[in-house]
Amino acid sequence: MKLAEVKDTRKFEMENREIWRRFLLPYKFALDELKTKINIMAEEAKYLNDYNPIEHIQTRIKNVESIKAKLERKNIVSTLPHAKESIFDIAGMRIVCSFVTDIYDIFTQLSNRKDIKIIEVKDYIRSPKPNGYQSLHLIIKIPVTLSHGIENIYAEIQLRTLAMDFWASLEHKIYYKYDKKIPSYLEKELLTAAQTAKLMDEKMMRIHEEVKRLN
Ligand code: GTP
Ligand code: MG
Repeated sequence: MKLAEVKDTRKFEMENREIWRRFLLPYKFALDELKTKINIMAEEAKYLNDYNPIEHIQTRIKNVESIKAKLERKNIVSTLPHAKESIFDIAGMRIVCSFVTDIYDIFTQLSNRKDIKIIEVKDYIRSPKPNGYQSLHLIIKIPVTLSHGIENIYAEIQLRTLAMDFWASLEHKIYYKYDKKIPSYLEKELLTAAQTAKLMDEKMMRIHEEVKRLN
């Protein structure tokens, strides 16, 4: 490759990187806004009921390679408009709650808000995945005001308890970089572990309710 060609390629790559950075910016703003809304909900609950239903919140923006890989998996040509229209989890938030009831309370509150729109609900708590995975997944649309106007941004919210999060985090770690099929006896053990997490959620909920009654 000639020097001029190398320079051209580098310039193209830098411009490309800049275009993606610009594209991802509203997703960061959407998560900033969402974090504020959720924190206000938690703070108000603490004030009104002396109870905070949220243990912790995590956010992440999907990296460019993962966005391109997901478009490829879906057989969609990798362009920015396609990414904006078809990938709903570029902005992701995970809300880890204390109890299952807190998850549905937050879901109800989110459903009643005028400033976000819930597009899709996948309830893997009522219907866990065959491997045992549990969480409540929401795809939402949130408006972000920018200098040129309003952009409506898709985001995925995953709501789960500490027990569900413990299982999902470790299951992900176990499978990470293991691309073969794991033996079925181990799949069964993971499923049993997920059921144990569910029992633990139920037990902690019962104890919580009992203590509230004693108060
Ligand atoms: P994609 O959005 O294309 O990934 O497919 P989908 O919409 O069918 O996925 P779904 O909404 O069910 O799940 C998306 C996200 O949930 C994943 O990126 C994970 O964060 C989480 N998730 C789903 N299933 C599992 C699972 O079996 N184990 C773990 N650890 N996480 C999961
Ligand atoms: Mg999804």
